[in-house]
Amino acid sequence: MNSAVKVYNVKKYFKKTGKLIEALKGVSFEIKRGEIYGLLGPNGSGKSTLIRLMSTLLYPDCGRIEIFSHDVFEDENIVKRMINRVSVEASFFMKLSAIENLRYACGIYGLPFGKSKEHISNMLEQVGIPKNRFNDPLENFSRGMQQKVAISRAFLTAPVLMLLDEPTTGLDPKAKREVQSMVKDIVREHDATVLLTTHDMEEAEKLCDRISIIHHGKIVAEGTPENLKERYSAQTLEDVFLEAIGVKFEEADEDE
Ligand SMILES: Nc1ncnc2c1ncn2[C@@H]1O[C@H](COP(=O)(O)OP(=O)(O)O)[C@@H](O)[C@H]1O
Ligand SMILES: [Mg+2]
Repeated sequence: MNSAVKVYNVKKYFKKTGKLIEALKGVSFEIKRGEIYGLLGPNGSGKSTLIRLMSTLLYPDCGRIEIFSHDVFEDENIVKRMINRVSVEASFFMKLSAIENLRYACGIYGLPFGKSKEHISNMLEQVGIPKNRFNDPLENFSRGMQQKVAISRAFLTAPVLMLLDEPTTGLDPKAKREVQSMVKDIVREHDATVLLTTHDMEEAEKLCDRISIIHHGKIVAEGTPENLKERYSAQTLEDVFLEAIGVKFEEADEDE
């Protein structure tokens, strides 16, 4: 079975101050096992809403989502054990260290304490946290380092599907590059499938095997970065976006 995720015609509406917001207007796509699949879109295009639906935090108004053949809403508990999510606003106990935060997470996941100690050190080393910083309070870490700790925490349970919601947004260029290469390494090492959202074209091109461009809650183009550029006779993904939508990417942010 080669399919990790199937999203069929998913719609999601919100009501904000009496106004109906169509956050997702019928989204469909499939992710193959082992892929890093990118959802690339401007702010407000519906990326986080889709991630929340996939991680059972929201219910769709229409459509179906299957993760490894399990319906996300019928088999919620099975799905929860297969996925993990990292969002921009990673939450930690900031006064506690990386080790302490991960140990707490192990407790929540029900991983045995004895085993978790070595496991935690391995995970932190894998994401490039120096050993001499393991016991520093996280409030003393840069945003980039905090994000790496968040990603290592999400991999504690060896999820088969990792949902990364804008993992590098707000990081400086150096931290961004480090987190990106770390994502690539850790994903391959853990044989995971990834859905990554971003509004960074370069990141999508660098990390993702295939990309969907999402705009106003609709997927407007899908393919490998090469496919997309070829199809639209474009040099860059910026040009693909412009060709597909008729608006420049940086001008496409929606009202929040
Ligand atoms: N809980 C909510 N209540 C009302 N509107 C929401 C809610 N969550 C998202 N939205 C709206 O849905 C649209 C898509 O938001 P979101 O999925 O967060 O976009 P993105 O992650 O691509 O920036 C936006 O117009 C946003 O304001
Ligand atoms: Mg978002």
